[in-house]
Amino acid sequence: MDDAELQILRQRAPGLAALYTTARDTILRAADVAALEQARVSTLGRKSALTELLRSIPTLPAVDRPLLGKGGNAVRRELEALVEEREAELRREALSASLAHERLDVTLPGQPFPAGHEHLISQTMREVEDIFIGLGYRIAEGPEVELDYYNFTALNTPPSHPARSAHDTFWVVEPRETMPEAVMDADRGVLLRTHTSPVQVRVMEQQRPPVYVVCLGKVYRRDSDATHTPMFHQVEGLVVDEGITLADLKGTLHHFTQEFFGGERAIRIRPHFFPFTEPSIEVDVSCELCGGKGCRSCKHSGWLEIMGAGMVDPAVYDFVDYDPEKVSGFAFGMGVERMAMLKHGIPDLRLFYDNDVRFLRQF
Ligand code: PHE
Repeated sequence: MDDAELQILRQRAPGLAALYTTARDTILRAADVAALEQARVSTLGRKSALTELLRSIPTLPAVDRPLLGKGGNAVRRELEALVEEREAELRREALSASLAHERLDVTLPGQPFPAGHEHLISQTMREVEDIFIGLGYRIAEGPEVELDYYNFTALNTPPSHPARSAHDTFWVVEPRETMPEAVMDADRGVLLRTHTSPVQVRVMEQQRPPVYVVCLGKVYRRDSDATHTPMFHQVEGLVVDEGITLADLKGTLHHFTQEFFGGERAIRIRPHFFPFTEPSIEVDVSCELCGGKGCRSCKHSGWLEIMGAGMVDPAVYDFVDYDPEKVSGFAFGMGVERMAMLKHGIPDLRLFYDNDVRFLRQF
């Protein structure tokens, strides 16, 4: 309704004009959607003055009816349109207020989220795995809670064997306690594996030659000092096939050390003893720090010991029904921590397990 129309309404129906201007002000004053709804109810609702006026029209003198009827309806439409406009306006205001309030500067630098990575021991195990997978080996696994039978007996280390005492075993079920009288059953104990070699027996029980496997995992021994932790990791290798000799073992380990340490490294083998290999050897790799001349880290020998190995003892084949007349093989075992220390010049074994990120982050 423009000013001219309002002027006319004021002259012809001053009551209706007053009602209109009050209602208009109420609607325009509503500061939010809820207030607007209240204003709509009070100006256009069933109990509003306007509705009452329109309802009373049939009772008015006939002369007044057309003017107030038409005018009242025009005022109603006018007010309804105002409510709609005001509502749209309020919603626009609310939207721009919330946009301003929730404004987000996408060009601000984000919160740094430190990304972790694999522990050096895990990385080293992956590297070793990759090298042997490259040679066609399969990855084998076995339990960390192991039977005495696999950890010792079937590796040609019967209950009375002196080599058992060198292993500082964590027993889960000590055979002596559970079955004191049953000497024959003395290998039924349960322990935390002291080496990964029991996996050799488990693999041979499950498949016939040719066997080319490596097993990487945790082993447990009851020591703890600067050079020993009660838990550490080993890599076990086992090959059984026709015509395998010590030369194959040496060639394999030479290839492995070149790949793992990089560069030209010499290896040498020394005679040793393990109950489950015959002959048994220890393998050294040339010290890179001094180029073999001798330094503190190689104890002035020019060589670093890296693993035990040997040709599988035929006595082990007896436990898994392999025929030592037809097949022969080799096995080797090395400590993952030690390999990582030698490769990266890490001075103390305990650094691996202190979980100091300043150390771990370097790798
Ligand atoms: N299992 C032996 C150890 O932990 C290492 C080894 C493995 C030796 C395989 C020979 C062959 O000391």
